[in-house]
Amino acid sequence: MITENNGVFHIQTASYSYLFKINAYGIPEHLHFGTPVQTEDAEALSCRPGLGWGCSILLNGEDTASCLDTLMLEWSGSGRGDYRESPLELAGQPSDFRYESYEILKGNAAMACSLPQAHGAEETLVITLAQKNAKLQLYYSAYPTAIVRRSVLTNTGEAPMTLNKLMSFSLDIPGNFTMATFNGSWIAEMRRTDTVVGASKVVNESLTGSSSNRHNPGFLLFEPDATETAGRVYGFNLVYSGNHYASAQRSHQGLTRVMQGINMSNFCRELKSGESFETPEAVLCCSNAGFGGLSKNMHTFVNDHIVPVAWAHRPRPVLYNSWEGCVFDFNEHRLLDLAGRAKDLGCELFVLDDGWFGARNNDKAGLGDYTVNKKKLPHGMEGLAKRIRDKGLDFGLWFEPESVNVDSDLYRAHPDWALTDEFAPVFGRNQLLLDLTKQEVRDYLVKSICPILDSAKISYVKWDMNRHSIALGSKAHDFILGLYEVLDRIFTPRPGILLESCSSGGNRFDLGIMCFSPQVWTSDDTDPVERLTIQQGASYLYPQSTMGAHVSAAPHAQTLRTTPLATRGNVAFFGCLGYELDLKHLLPVEVKEIKTQITFYKQYREVFQYGTFSRNALGWQVSDGKNTLAGVFHGLVHAAPSYEQLRLTGLKKDARYRIASLTQTIRVGQFGNLLKHVAPVNIDPNGQLLRIADRHFTLPYGEEVMTVSGAALMNGILLRPLFRGTGYDQNQRTHGDFGSDIYIVEETVENRQE
Ligand code: DGJ
Repeated sequence: MITENNGVFHIQTASYSYLFKINAYGIPEHLHFGTPVQTEDAEALSCRPGLGWGCSILLNGEDTASCLDTLMLEWSGSGRGDYRESPLELAGQPSDFRYESYEILKGNAAMACSLPQAHGAEETLVITLAQKNAKLQLYYSAYPTAIVRRSVLTNTGEAPMTLNKLMSFSLDIPGNFTMATFNGSWIAEMRRTDTVVGASKVVNESLTGSSSNRHNPGFLLFEPDATETAGRVYGFNLVYSGNHYASAQRSHQGLTRVMQGINMSNFCRELKSGESFETPEAVLCCSNAGFGGLSKNMHTFVNDHIVPVAWAHRPRPVLYNSWEGCVFDFNEHRLLDLAGRAKDLGCELFVLDDGWFGARNNDKAGLGDYTVNKKKLPHGMEGLAKRIRDKGLDFGLWFEPESVNVDSDLYRAHPDWALTDEFAPVFGRNQLLLDLTKQEVRDYLVKSICPILDSAKISYVKWDMNRHSIALGSKAHDFILGLYEVLDRIFTPRPGILLESCSSGGNRFDLGIMCFSPQVWTSDDTDPVERLTIQQGASYLYPQSTMGAHVSAAPHAQTLRTTPLATRGNVAFFGCLGYELDLKHLLPVEVKEIKTQITFYKQYREVFQYGTFSRNALGWQVSDGKNTLAGVFHGLVHAAPSYEQLRLTGLKKDARYRIASLTQTIRVGQFGNLLKHVAPVNIDPNGQLLRIADRHFTLPYGEEVMTVSGAALMNGILLRPLFRGTGYDQNQRTHGDFGSDIYIVEETVENRQE
């Protein structure tokens, strides 16, 4: 609900209040963003500057309440006494926007440009501010667990105006904060980095042309006492896939100014008379229930209002992807063999990755030519797709539409379609970017991709993008607008297609892309130990339903680490599960284990993909209120390990629960020489007998089944001991390095009947 009362605006939902007032000078002053309060609290929540501020500037004579530098502002100009960073810069001009009017609209207010928007807002408040020759509109859309802000600047004068900077929002909040950002690089995305926000500005920005794996646009501000379950945490994100900028800085008065928007480095836009510039939407979330509470609010918002309606809360298929198993080396025969095996394991979707078109036999040629390679696929894409569907699998296909190899028919025909500057071309993965600011390039992409999707009845697309954008300069924003137009033209008329965006893994893991692509390939690194960091980083702001998570081979391609198959599965369960290894080389024990994994995942997939996610000392928890699933993850094994306490959250304290471990087994070969302690005969640890046995036999371990109260589970229960002996003991959790366990917690039947 949005109300206006004597110049006080109150945006209120069950989970938050957002309050600001128009002060005596027509300047919007921020009052509160946090737990629900009453409109009548406005005065108590506002800054009351008191006596003068020495060298500060007063807008109006002696009135200290007109000292902009000391107030919490909802927006700020420049050159009028507020020395903090301004969210707006007009070239060579101060700015001083004052209140003119407001409007409350039902639902969302559509944008004129191709930027994607959240959907399903209850109401939208539009505040119009003005100064000579310009109008500034601040938009506030109310969603149950988040507020979405954006701004629009219009040149109302006769002469052109040069815009250097326009943020989506600016906000001043009282308190001491630390900023958590999610940084990294290729195969090392989403590492949480905490930086105390003090007198010097903390900046989170991308200059690569993409939202980037370097610095994800999402970030948190949290108070010093915040934990997973308690304390004040704010979350911010941008519905945008290009260069972004956010800053936070604490003033001497203890007010933290935070703002976010498009990165304005190298940005300059001339607005002719009557022209407007629209910023992307920014998402603002808050919680007094710690990081877990903040994640819950953000996840709800993304699942309900960002991903396309057709895919909201829709269970995601278990897929098999050909990349890590085949790379470029495949033909129809090999793919059909893999598809048969994938089906047998329980997969539902077969995805053909890179290498199916033109001269694409490695990453040096062919990109841009979406003509099927008939040597590899003699029956064409339609023929392959049909054969795969006949096996009972859906069929998905990889594209990398934004790039081109110089060694391609497309480049030979249209060298001017590639983005270059006056210097020698700079390549990334042997490719250049196509100039998506050109209408003919966008038309080419739509025209070459759509017929393949329709004729081969493609039900999933992996849209890759493997290089950072350079040679873009001030075109960076227009490139992203071009990309959104292409995505809209291809996928809006085809809502049944599940789009999984990928950019060398998580190089474009953002809310802009998620408006088209309900799931995103989180990282090219599928090593489960690495994935624990990557998926946990992503989990603060993005729900599990958005994270592509695959089981791949061990030793792992990027780390050379050998991990148990169980752990590879257990980590991938907390996302959209897939398999990406050569199925032909699986051992019988592995086939059996993967079948069990997929059956288990399907049984609980909605809890894994859409349940409330939280982090604890041992790992992760998801819950849909009925079923709770906990993952416990280990690193290197220590001799004489301590007890482990599993502490869950969100249960009913008086209810009784059945907690059971997912049955896991250990390969007999892992015991090697130790088998002498249990085997009746002496087995050669390097002999043929053990090698054969290891292919077929496993030993179960550490099974846990108990009935216990919610209170005890939330207090923490001690798990079965970890392996601490020389031999096999079924009662110990015997998993070796990088082991893990899954626990299934359900209310007991008697309890449910009460
Ligand atoms: C990079 C992606 O991240 C991989 O998953 C794979 O699709 C390759 N590109 C194919 O070239």
